Amino acid sequence: MKIILIGFMGSGKTTVADILAKKLNLGVIEMDQLILTKSGRNNISEIFSLDGEKHFRNLETIVAKEISKLDNVIVSTGGGIVMKKRNQKHLKKGVIFFLKTSFSIIDRRLKNDKTRPLFKDKETARKLFDTRQNLYEKFADKTIITDDKTVNEVANCLVNLL
Ligand code: S3P
Repeated sequence: MKIILIGFMGSGKTTVADILAKKLNLGVIEMDQLILTKSGRNNISEIFSLDGEKHFRNLETIVAKEISKLDNVIVSTGGGIVMKKRNQKHLKKGVIFFLKTSFSIIDRRLKNDKTRPLFKDKETARKLFDTRQNLYEKFADKTIITDDKTVNEVANCLVNLL
């Protein structure tokens, strides 16, 4: 079984992936971590500032292709994974869950975050959020609205939908 978590930055993908991995006894793959290892940089912001977003997106697609060959894992994707059709093709073999979180909640969570180069200011992030919502919905097999749930409740909800 392969479970793919998609959703905007700050929707809880990493935390939910960790909880699920324990519950289901599966491995976890944090896509950003694999991208970082390939990049040779110290953090995601450094990839964006020194190599550019295009380079980051290329690495993201290489990692998505590698993941297409794996099984028995929970994959926590980066929020921009839906921007390329090719990524979607590589991840299609898993069950894809969209963790849908309102922008107001995400903004509260990420207001002081310094690790996400695409969440520097609220207005730009809001536009990105709006353009991606349909893509997440279309790509996902199932959507879980997270606003009224704790991360444990989101994980339980997902298990019940499997
Ligand atoms: C991005 C989301 C980030 C990371 C990078 C780009 C995006 O991952 O991949 O900063 O385009 O939304 P998270 O969604 O895990 O924050």
